[in-house]
Amino acid sequence: MTGPGAPRRLLLLGGGGGLVGRAILREFSADWQIRSLHRHRVEGEAAAGVEWVPADLGGAVDWARQLRGVDLVLNVAWHRYGSARRFRALADGLGRALRAGEQVPRLRWVHISVPPAPASLEQGLPYLTYKREVDRALAASALDYSIVRPSMLFGSGDRLLTVMLRLMRRYGRFPLFGSGEYHVSPLAADDLAAILRREAALPGSRSLVFGGPRRWRYLDLLDRMFAALGQPPRYVRLSPGMSVAVARLIQDLGSTLIYAYEVEWLLSDRLGPPPYVGLDRPLQSVEPFLDREARRLRGSTA
Ligand SMILES: NC(=O)c1ccc[n+]([C@@H]2O[C@H](COP(=O)([O-])OP(=O)(O)OC[C@H]3O[C@@H](n4cnc5c(N)ncnc54)[C@H](OP(=O)(O)O)[C@@H]3O)[C@@H](O)[C@H]2O)c1
Repeated sequence: MTGPGAPRRLLLLGGGGGLVGRAILREFSADWQIRSLHRHRVEGEAAAGVEWVPADLGGAVDWARQLRGVDLVLNVAWHRYGSARRFRALADGLGRALRAGEQVPRLRWVHISVPPAPASLEQGLPYLTYKREVDRALAASALDYSIVRPSMLFGSGDRLLTVMLRLMRRYGRFPLFGSGEYHVSPLAADDLAAILRREAALPGSRSLVFGGPRRWRYLDLLDRMFAALGQPPRYVRLSPGMSVAVARLIQDLGSTLIYAYEVEWLLSDRLGPPPYVGLDRPLQSVEPFLDREARRLRGSTA
């Protein structure tokens, strides 16, 4: 049975507390019943009728119970930075979830991962080694799956472009890592949520790397951000080695502004994958978002 009177299908959302989780709520809450497992309360979830189960996915979760009756799992949980111990616990928890999921009839699993990174990061950084371990465990499972590996995401409250705009506005200059000749393909978090809906409905299994509609030269994107703010572009130029060293210092001081691995990844020119193909509407360009955020900043005292 389909249509307005049909019983809603049940989505288990893992780690929905952040940017992608909020976009998934907007995309799915009208026609899916959502059970959301993560640690901290999110205002919008209760208002959207979501069943929030406070849980650390790396801890003791009764997965058989949580997965009962579930049609679709969307897993977005990951830490942006941390020790091997922290990632080990989360990867082990997700492994237990996968094994329980294999017992659920007709379950589809859509998992958010990340694009390829330089070998030194793939093999040496807990963020990536454990992420790949989870990717491989899903690919080896009996489940039908999509592993989606988007590039840089943007959306209201994101921790990349929004933060960069704020710093440009406040200081009038911005660090330029290396030449700025490498690329990024920003993708709207709302587009990612629509892509997840499409992937959830596809048969079989696949893994794909993609970005937004335009592959930007990084320096051009920074220039465009300054233009959105109505400011001339001004850069503090740093060599690649100095860029990584500065980011490492910032991270070692305990800041979450930027991490050394993020700068290495950017400089490696692997963050400009081609656009996702298959949505029934065009992917959103980043420019209206930049203009909107810049207007908001110019209207505030930031
Ligand atoms: N943002 C990007 O540009 C980007 C690009 C490519 C891929 N991705 C991937 O997309 C996914 C989501 O990214 P995002 O930007 O939405 O991240 P985010 O804003 O940091 O949100 C991730 C959420 O995961 C939850 N989480 C983390 N550890 C958890 C744990 N142990 N147990 C339960 N929940 C946990 C957290 O919610 P609680 O604190 O409530 O637990 C957090 O709000 C990640 O897998 C990330 O690697 C992001």
